Parts: sequence; C-alpha cells; structure tokens
Amino acid sequence: MMRKPFVCGNWKLNHNLAETRSILGEMKNSLAGVQQVEYAIAPVATVLAAACEQVKGSALHIAAQNVFYEKKGAFTGEWSVAHLTELGCDYAIVGHSERRALFNESDEIVARKVKACMEGDLIPIACFGENLQQRESDLVKSVVTAQVKSILGVVDSEAAERLILAYEPIWAIGTGKTATAEQAQEVHMLVRALITDQFGQSVAEKIRIIYGGSVNADNAATLMAQKDIDGLLVGGASLSTASFCSIVKSASVLRA
Ligand code: 13P
Repeated sequence: MMRKPFVCGNWKLNHNLAETRSILGEMKNSLAGVQQVEYAIAPVATVLAAACEQVKGSALHIAAQNVFYEKKGAFTGEWSVAHLTELGCDYAIVGHSERRALFNESDEIVARKVKACMEGDLIPIACFGENLQQRESDLVKSVVTAQVKSILGVVDSEAAERLILAYEPIWAIGTGKTATAEQAQEVHMLVRALITDQFGQSVAEKIRIIYGGSVNADNAATLMAQKDIDGLLVGGASLSTASFCSIVKSASVLRA
C-alpha cells in the first residue's frame, strides 16, 4: 500500500486578497508537473472564495483553517462544511493547537468538527500534539493517545482512510525548534499503532500522518525520510512561493 504524501501550508492570519491571488498564481505555476504529492494552502477565511477560483483546474488545493460542526442555525460568526465545499475547498484544518489554546477548543469540539467534515465532503486535517511541559514530564504518549483516540472515536471505519492526522508538537510551532526526525517518527509510529488497534492494519497503512512545527526547505527532506511521516503542515515557510514549493518538491515521494 502506497500513501501519497500531503503538504499543506497554513497561512494563519497572514496575506490579504491581493497577496493571496498573486502568491497562489506563482505557486500554481511553479508546482505544475510535480507529481506523487498532494498539496494545499489554507488562507484566511475571507479570501477562500477567491483562492478557490484562482486554483481551479490545477493540482493546488485549498484548505480552510477552521470549520464549525453544525450545518445551520443561530451560530453567529461560524461557517459549515457545506459552506466550504460549495466554494471548492477540499480540506479543513481542525483542532490546531492555536485554536485549542486561544479559542478553547476541547477534544470534544475537535471531534465534533472532524465528524462533521467526514459526514460532508471535506477532508479533515486533524491536529494534535503535546506542549513543552508535557514533553518534559514524559507525558507525550498519554497526551497524544488521548487526543488521537478522541479523533478516531468519531470516525467511521469505511471513511477512515480519508482522514489526515497532523502531529504538531506545540513547542516546535513558530519557535524554530523542529522535533528531530526521530522524535517525530516515534510519535507517528505510536499513532499508526493506535489506528491499527481501532481499524486494523490495512486502514492504518492508508491514513496519512503529517508533521508540523518549524518545517522549512532545509529540514523537509529529512523529516519526509521517516517511514511514518507522510507529509508536512507548514506555517511560516509556506508564506513565500520559493520555500513552500521547495518543501512540496522534497515531499514528492510515495510512502511505502
Ligand atoms: P510553523 O511552521 O511556523 O512552526 O507553524 C507550524 C504550524 O502551526 C502549522 O499549522
């Protein structure tokens, strides 16, 4: 079973409409012809419609940075899975550590969002990861296990292989401190074992587990050389065309 690597640039609160159009145009051209890798950019919500228009017909996909779990109703300020798919979004980042920490998203909320994506036609990129204090207290395994089990708990075994899981150790985000390839591989291997426990080996071999946290053009290939790292979730280094495209190119190798 081969897994196709997946690279997503998370632009967070960066780039306005004009910048989005111009950078996506450059990325689309620069990545034309690059095969064996799936790639997406997650811009600010207000530019999603324009971004989807801009990449139409190309291999560059658009992800939302967030989505709500309800379909409609009195939820001021939110948007649903259907609102994103009607624009042409293919993925949504769910449960990013910044949303967990700054917007109080609990494991339960994250799980409901994952479930809503799976029921609709949106691929969730479901994030999890420990903070520095938890790593220093030897709690990585228990924290990651609880977060991942909560996500897997709402996923139907038939749809499971669409899920993308993203390990983002909080201490490595925006700090310049990447987890070593071995540290990341250790967690990815644990997560693959959790998936095997729940869905069996053939599903576990299909689900992509990607890594995020200070990924850049220099460390991407080393991370991707690990057996269970199936792609990258990139923050700062996805803001410019050159570094994002270089990362995508170094990830374009099928995972055995
Ligand atoms: P950086 O790549 O800037 O560390 O951000 C990682 C991240 O949070 C991607 O979602």
